[in-house]
Amino acid sequence: MQTAAGKLMKVFLTRRIPPEGMKILSAAGVCEVSLWDSDEPVQRADLLKGVQGAHGLLCLLSDKIDAEVLDAAGPNLKVISTLSVGYDHLALDEIKKRGIRVGYTPDVLTDATAELTVALLLATARRLPEGVEEVKNGGWSSWKPLWLCGYGLSGSTVGVIGLGRIGMAIARRLMPFGVKRLLYSGRTAKAHAAEVNGEFVPLDTLVSESDFIVVSCSLTPETQGMCDKAFFSKMKNTAVFVNSSRGTVVNQEDLYEALSSGQIAAAGLDVTTPEPLPTNHPLLTLKNCVVLPHIGSATYSTRGIMGALSAQNLLGGLQGTDMPSELTF
Ligand code: NDP
Ligand code: DGY
Repeated sequence: MQTAAGKLMKVFLTRRIPPEGMKILSAAGVCEVSLWDSDEPVQRADLLKGVQGAHGLLCLLSDKIDAEVLDAAGPNLKVISTLSVGYDHLALDEIKKRGIRVGYTPDVLTDATAELTVALLLATARRLPEGVEEVKNGGWSSWKPLWLCGYGLSGSTVGVIGLGRIGMAIARRLMPFGVKRLLYSGRTAKAHAAEVNGEFVPLDTLVSESDFIVVSCSLTPETQGMCDKAFFSKMKNTAVFVNSSRGTVVNQEDLYEALSSGQIAAAGLDVTTPEPLPTNHPLLTLKNCVVLPHIGSATYSTRGIMGALSAQNLLGGLQGTDMPSELTF
């Protein structure tokens, strides 16, 4: 597709993306692609430079797209396509003001993220990283009745904060482990909760009655800092906390205190603040805290599909046609 001056539209990609996405962009022949040709994040100054005059921007969750970036892009910008389902890094009010469309990647990463969250929950509750470490460091002296005991899902109460696409996929996967009650909280009760006998309860009830708490909500002004001192103080001492949503939903100082004082049993985090978490962060000194580097959607096939979908969204926005996954806001 060409501009009025007969030139191809310009798009800026803030990172190397999976080849499935690049192939779609090249084959379409409607845009001239420039990219931050690296697996590491683009520096702010390079982002501001790269986006100048772009008609389309393909970004990642680590890129803060705010008024400064939109102003740097200028009036050509028609579409922002993010290679993520989360869009808390996008200043939607500023984007809306400028009439820019937004594409994102819901659904295609739900299974991979739910699977990883269940793996993290089990690894945390059954102390897998500690066990692996003991095998390697010679701490495994014998089978011992009270050694490396953890918590099981059978007969338990699980609380899911945010029973959306991913929360529901997590609940579906956990029920066959023999979960007795599935509680969930959020802004509204969900019809789909019936499939897992989900009980819609106030957050306080979920926190105090759950043996496992899984956070799978989106990051919003309401959920930011939601898991704080008051939250952890209501949890059972034997309960396990898991977060695969966004790091800032949790107050990490309060989590550290809750874990180190025995207020709660353990925590598994796929997301932190900041990312990466500095290697000298206090949470990393705790045996009862398992931290992963934000790998919820990291399967080869899922990332390939996300790449393709984000490219298709970008093209739809450039050409003024339907996007396979357009965010309505
Ligand atoms: P959905 O929009 O389907 O679900 C989000 C859920 O958050 C909804 O059920 C919503 O409930 C809930 N929510 C919103 N506000 C609140 C609140 N105040 N209290 C409790 N719950 C609330 O999104 P997805 O399930 O597809 O994705 C969820 C999030 O997971 C993404 O936004 C992203 O941050 C994160 N994510 C992390 C990944 C990882 O790699 N770790 C991978 C993919 C996503 P309601 O409808 O009632 O408002
Ligand atoms: C998202 O899509 O929001 C995740 O955090 C990464 O897949």
